[in-house]
Amino acid sequence: MPTWIIILLTTMGILIVCKFLFAFSLVSVFPITQGAMFHPSAKVKVRTFLDHVPMNAGDLLVDVGCGDGRVLRAAKRRYGVRALGFEVNPLAYMLARLRTIGLEGIEVRFKNFWNVNVGDADVVFCYLFPDVMGRLAHKLERELRPGTRVISCNFPLPGWRHRELLYPESPIHADPIYLYQIPALSPHPGGRCTCNPDWPRSHNA
Ligand SMILES: C[S@@+](CC[C@H](N)C(=O)[O-])C[C@H]1O[C@@H](n2cnc3c(N)ncnc32)[C@H](O)[C@@H]1O
Repeated sequence: MPTWIIILLTTMGILIVCKFLFAFSLVSVFPITQGAMFHPSAKVKVRTFLDHVPMNAGDLLVDVGCGDGRVLRAAKRRYGVRALGFEVNPLAYMLARLRTIGLEGIEVRFKNFWNVNVGDADVVFCYLFPDVMGRLAHKLERELRPGTRVISCNFPLPGWRHRELLYPESPIHADPIYLYQIPALSPHPGGRCTCNPDWPRSHNA
């Protein structure tokens, strides 16, 4: 058999195995993710988030469903934060671990974030799925401290009032990014989440 055919067949075989592994990793965790599948944020989205959400070195950023860890890495690089991600998709988790090898201050845990209290976070990032946003809103209301910022890509937190709504400057990745902040005092009468009017400048010490 000619070499080029062997190379072609081998490449196709590898691609098919990769596709199968990817599909399997999505399906196997569906009961947990409920549609929030492994789909990494586009770079322009991560950049837009970081441009508008300044953080202090040492702040704790938590990505609930961190995928390949790109948000954690970018935030660590830009602001020197401590970055913690939870992931249940084995493929995404392995990628995240591989890509954060040797990076101090970034931790990725193979864990269902519903079973973890994220109350220590200064900033929570999520890019999930509409079906879980209501449950997530209740969890974050219970656990987060006043002043904590919450960033949700694509999907709003039901009942929360966003502080800012961003649109990445990209024709193909123009989905909204919702910025929230847990209220410092009592909840705003019109909604469960209100904000410090200085935000985000007050976090840019
Ligand atoms: C759309 S991806 C976003 C990944 C990453 N946050 C980003 O923006 O690039 C959502 C990720 O959340 C993970 N996920 C969904 N539900 C989860 C849960 N309960 N615990 C941990 N990870 C979860 C999925 O496996 C998936 O990788």
